[in-house]
Amino acid sequence: MIDTIARVEENELTESASRRRYGRLRLRIKVPIAVQPGQFAMIRPHAGEEPLLRRAMAFHRADRQGDHLLAEFIYQIVGRGTEALARLRINDEVDLLGPLGNTFDLGETAGTEALLVAGGAGSPALHMLAGQLNARAIPTRFFIGGASSGDLCALADFIELLGAERVTTATIDGSRGVTGFVTAPLEAAIARLERPAVIYACGPDPMLHRVARIAAESNLPAQLSLEAPMACGFGICVGCAVPVRHDCPEGFIYQKVCTDGPVFRSETLAW
Ligand SMILES: Cc1cc2nc3c(=O)[nH]c(=O)nc-3n(C[C@H](O)[C@H](O)[C@H](O)COP(=O)(O)OP(=O)(O)OC[C@H]3O[C@@H](n4cnc5c(N)ncnc54)[C@H](O)[C@@H]3O)c2cc1C
Ligand code: FES
Repeated sequence: MIDTIARVEENELTESASRRRYGRLRLRIKVPIAVQPGQFAMIRPHAGEEPLLRRAMAFHRADRQGDHLLAEFIYQIVGRGTEALARLRINDEVDLLGPLGNTFDLGETAGTEALLVAGGAGSPALHMLAGQLNARAIPTRFFIGGASSGDLCALADFIELLGAERVTTATIDGSRGVTGFVTAPLEAAIARLERPAVIYACGPDPMLHRVARIAAESNLPAQLSLEAPMACGFGICVGCAVPVRHDCPEGFIYQKVCTDGPVFRSETLAW
């Protein structure tokens, strides 16, 4: 983990038909840190005092370029922190702490198929994972859902990586793919599986709850990347605690999403 100042190379803003706004932020980091799939950084504009606390963002890309790292983040603009990110211009400086958190476990993918499931701005957490699965020749399918076609974050990047035939889309307004929630095509694909599969998911809590239930009913392992609100990102504030099953009288203990996660096995979560 390093605490550094990165420089903005690109910050492209878009708005979807559902009026949600997103940014794609590319940063040049002077230290070639190694980033694993699922890890995240805490970032905020270097200039100004607002917001005081950095915001958690999953690494969408982390490509080494000589002695630099080019990192890309995709963010939904929802409040003060992400509004501040949206105001960043080329060459502005960004405070960056990372990489943080654990990673997806690829150990159980041998001989299996990987089913990646994203809701809206949850997809960045899965992009480096898709790249590693692809590099290991593990058959990988990507399911992404959102309110409208413009809410399917980084869809083109996944199509470029995996091919359009391996990508399934679902939108609530029916503007692209299946009409409804992404968990419906996921369930249909599981019903037709010809080999064991592992599910990896990131997105809004209701989607993750549904994915966890589908995984349990289908007897498939699932690894879920959680997006709890975070103040510090490295284990000090305990603001990101989630209940995890435990063999104690209460039946659960709290773990920290920032240091024990953000990736948890679905069956361990005491939701
Ligand atoms: C490990 C991790 C990785 C993440 N990766 C991404 C990513 O790649 N792209 C992305 O768009 N977002 C990501 N998030 C969520 C992102 O951190 C929050 O959206 C951001 O902190 C909101 O800050 P804000 O100041 O703009 O909004 P705030 O003013 O803090 O909140 C605005 C609204 O968003 C809700 N909110 C705030 N934080 C979160 C959160 N962590 N999860 C869900 N709802 C929240 C609040 O309840 C409120 O309703 C990630 C979160 C975590 C923990
Ligand atoms: S965010 Fe502070 S302990 Fe996890």
